[in-house]
Amino acid sequence: MSPAPSTSRSGRRHHAGPLQVLALVNQKGGCGKTTTAVNLAGALARRGERVLLVDLDPQAHATMAVGVAPEGPTLAEVLLEEAYIEQAIVEGPLGLHLLPSRARLIEFEEASERLLHAEQRLQHALDAVRDRYDFVVLDCPPRADGVLCANALFACTRALLVVETGAFALQGALQALRILEGVGESQERTYPVRVVGTLFDRSQRFARELLIALHARFGRALFDTVIRTSVRLREAPAMGLPVHALDPASRAAADFDALAAEVVADRAAAPHEPHALHIGAAPEASALTT
Ligand SMILES: Nc1ncnc2c1ncn2[C@@H]1O[C@H](COP(=O)(O)OP(=O)(O)OP(=O)(O)O)[C@@H](O)[C@H]1O
Ligand SMILES: [Mg+2]
Repeated sequence: MSPAPSTSRSGRRHHAGPLQVLALVNQKGGCGKTTTAVNLAGALARRGERVLLVDLDPQAHATMAVGVAPEGPTLAEVLLEEAYIEQAIVEGPLGLHLLPSRARLIEFEEASERLLHAEQRLQHALDAVRDRYDFVVLDCPPRADGVLCANALFACTRALLVVETGAFALQGALQALRILEGVGESQERTYPVRVVGTLFDRSQRFARELLIALHARFGRALFDTVIRTSVRLREAPAMGLPVHALDPASRAAADFDALAAEVVADRAAAPHEPHALHIGAAPEASALTT
């Protein structure tokens, strides 16, 4: 049976599939996680999808990148169980909703060792708003083995491994997969993983070769879309706008439109996930041993 059509915030009617919760991860700093989270969220919102962007980084870069300076509760208060998620969600550009972050998120990280099932708190919080969204996009901090990333991986329906097409990217990506696998084992769950290349500069031979190597290693799990290096993507966060709000005709917006189209196609294919690697609990299903 096909799902009932729903009306998006933009008024466009579409056939929403099951809620997709995407965790954008890599333990490598500065590889484009936040840029990809913010602009993929923007591209999905522009397509008429109902999108919640969640900032899981105490640095609050995603929060700033959509021009929000939180005055009320944030994800920190939600995870510390001082506020309800509905009180913390705010509206951002392009009809996006944001669950903002602030430095106080570090307090949750510190408190988590004393908490039972600390890694399940985001998932439980999201339960209250699940039917309001088509996509939840989780921007993870660089510490992939920390409790914030564990929350993202526990809550996600799929992980997107963000790989900068630069030096040591393949080794970094494989190391990240091992961390994801370890988290999956400790959480006794398996999740599908897809890989997205970022900061791609076609004029660099090294970057082209790296892309070929990523494809050889990850096959169909590597998205066809690669996010190219773009000045617009550097400018947009300083203006507090996703690139679709700043310059919808830009090359960067086109890249994220293409990525959003692939992510939407993945939803249509769920739960079979033919393109994804399956990482986590079941050792025989390990994509790392193949
Ligand atoms: N495709 C791109 N073109 C140009 N600049 C980019 C691109 N992607 C990211 N950047 C820039 O690279 C820097 C790091 O990107 P970003 O903040 O998205 O990485 P991150 O993985 O979230 O970092 P962290 O690990 O600190 O959270 C930023 O200054 C960002 O503007
Ligand atoms: Mg970031």
